[in-house]
Amino acid sequence: MKGTIKHMAYGPPAIPVTQRSHGSLSRSDEVVLRTNNLSKQYKQRIAVNNLSLEVHKGDIFGFLGPNGAGKTTTIRMVLGLITPTSGSIEILGKELAHHRSQVLPRVGALIETPALYLYMSGRDNLRAVGSVLGGVSNKRIDEVLELVGLSARQKDRVRTYSLGMKQRLGIAIALLQDPGLVILDEPANGLDPAGIVEMRDLMHRLSSEGKSVLISSHLLTEVQQICTRVAIISQGSLVRETTIENLIRGDGEFSVQMENAAAALQLLQKEAWGKGAYIDPEGTLVTPAPEGKGRNLNLFLVQAGFVPDTLTPATRDLEKIFLELTNSGSGEIK
Ligand SMILES: Nc1ncnc2c1ncn2[C@@H]1O[C@H](COP(=O)(O)OP(=O)(O)OP(=O)(O)O)[C@@H](O)[C@H]1O
Ligand SMILES: [Mg+2]
Repeated sequence: MKGTIKHMAYGPPAIPVTQRSHGSLSRSDEVVLRTNNLSKQYKQRIAVNNLSLEVHKGDIFGFLGPNGAGKTTTIRMVLGLITPTSGSIEILGKELAHHRSQVLPRVGALIETPALYLYMSGRDNLRAVGSVLGGVSNKRIDEVLELVGLSARQKDRVRTYSLGMKQRLGIAIALLQDPGLVILDEPANGLDPAGIVEMRDLMHRLSSEGKSVLISSHLLTEVQQICTRVAIISQGSLVRETTIENLIRGDGEFSVQMENAAAALQLLQKEAWGKGAYIDPEGTLVTPAPEGKGRNLNLFLVQAGFVPDTLTPATRDLEKIFLELTNSGSGEIK
């Protein structure tokens, strides 16, 4: 993960920046879900407040917020299950309010625990739903069973399934009509670590199938490895919408591991650009760089007689960021 700079006798070395395999790739312009100033009020309580979101084609979009933030309410509005108090929703380019019967079949969803026939097999559950929907072939049933990793257990009664398997069968149902947009409300809720890993694998598979997915969660760490973007809501309002990279990237700071960090800190703090330098609880020096460039920082330190063992862009603790954002319920973090 971390790049190591051994020496820099012959010019500044390249500073490796940790790259994620997704998220930093260019994002499709095609919007599959858009909410415009969406609000929902229950008597005096505003559950969702002026929420504007955009999910683009191919996004694995994390919809995050603590309990009661308004995630399920938003999802229910998007699925046409409840009517917004104000604002509008566009799905796959069409206004939901005016094209319900056209757009809703293009959305696959799992809200809370799926309704399953426990005495029937996984496959028969899919068949039953397929016959209600119409036009679902046996081949499609095979495909979705494969996709959610239930092929081997398809003939077993659902009663014998683990919670994770039931969740995945619920997702298989959501996928039957090959939807362009998949919406999953807390799909990992109640799952043990192994179940969460299986769910994460499934999300990766959906992503590689080219699906656009919106996943709600109250745990940032749960979705950070799979999501390309995240929207964080608190008390019904959007507090941040960005990539995971942007969320965790420090503000141009670098983490430097080196001997004599305390002495280097004193030196750095004498510089106008280095005033914000500090040593974190693990003993790592965290500092801004001249002109924000790692190579300049490296040069400065080496010329002053301090040779970094490692020098990497600083990242921030995601859980802390999430708590800061959602506790304050207000915009930017420091
Ligand atoms: N039918 C309803 N009548 C009145 N208030 C409601 C109703 N549904 C939701 N609320 C309120 O709206 C707010 C948002 O609830 P919502 O279920 O959308 O949150 P959530 O983000 O999904 O939370 P959780 O993580 O617990 O699932 C809460 O304060 C909740 O009590
Ligand atoms: Mg909810």
